[in-house]
Amino acid sequence: MKEHLKSNELDGRVAVVTGGATLLGEAISRALVTAGAKVLIGDCDPAGQGVAEELGPDAAFVRTDVISDTELDMCLQTAENLFGGIDILVNGAAIHDEKGVSATREEWLRFMNVNLVSPVLLIQKVLPYFQTRGGGAVVNVASGSAKQALPDQLLYPTSKAALLYVTRGLALNCAPLNVRVNSISPGIMWSSPVIKMTEGDRSIADQIASSAHIIPRCGTPEELGDAVVFLCSSRSSFITGADLAVDGGGAALGAVSKASVMKQLAALYEAG
Ligand SMILES: NC(=O)c1ccc[n+]([C@@H]2O[C@H](COP(=O)([O-])OP(=O)(O)OC[C@H]3O[C@@H](n4cnc5c(N)ncnc54)[C@H](O)[C@@H]3O)[C@@H](O)[C@H]2O)c1
Repeated sequence: MKEHLKSNELDGRVAVVTGGATLLGEAISRALVTAGAKVLIGDCDPAGQGVAEELGPDAAFVRTDVISDTELDMCLQTAENLFGGIDILVNGAAIHDEKGVSATREEWLRFMNVNLVSPVLLIQKVLPYFQTRGGGAVVNVASGSAKQALPDQLLYPTSKAALLYVTRGLALNCAPLNVRVNSISPGIMWSSPVIKMTEGDRSIADQIASSAHIIPRCGTPEELGDAVVFLCSSRSSFITGADLAVDGGGAALGAVSKASVMKQLAALYEAG
């Protein structure tokens, strides 16, 4: 397993990470802590408590449903109370099990609410906290699927495509506050949903990912964490409104290969 790159480049910074209760969010949180930050994990899954405990005294958890404005406010206030301010926001919480073309209005609204409106409102709400620190950095977790036509998927990629626009629009509008807003677009990662689909068989996951990525395997959670640290650190000080593909070159390969992979994934999912 790749170790997170150790550094002190986020010493003294405080990060709020939504969606930190499963593998990818945990790795992002771990990478931030390893780089010196204190991290508050906000997730509706109480498993986030165990993740925070494992990360040690520089991490904490508050149960947060991102579609509740009150709970978003509480999450930010908890970070301020525990760690004295907020410098970094990672919007990672998302839903992905969808019905594609047959989705109802309720399902559309639910996806947009969790995957798009909540990250935007959380950015809006964190700005006053950033201002007291003289600025901040936001990383929105998008997806390589935002730029592809995919079988049986519509809601999730649409929500992530809109998140890419939001990243650009908010980068412009938040720049006067010294706030940078970027996104990352993961490819197929060794993650909780992929583990579930492949019943934990890494070789199946790597085989499927190999036809979607130039680097012929799944990405690791640690590789995603390192990309987030980069976008939050001063090493990326001239980068805003950008999308960083963490996809083993998947975006360079294009839609055709990706679509065949998604078919394989969908078949696996249905079989499970
Ligand atoms: N797994 C991949 O290969 C992959 C690829 C591209 C993008 N992503 C993105 O990475 C991020 C993590 O995804 P994952 O694959 O680990 O999936 P996951 O389902 O394991 O993680 C999503 C997390 O979001 C949380 N969440 C969902 N709804 C919430 C709500 N209303 N309030 C608070 N928390 C909520 C869940 O509890 C969970 O901890 C997501 O943004 C996803 O879109 C993942």
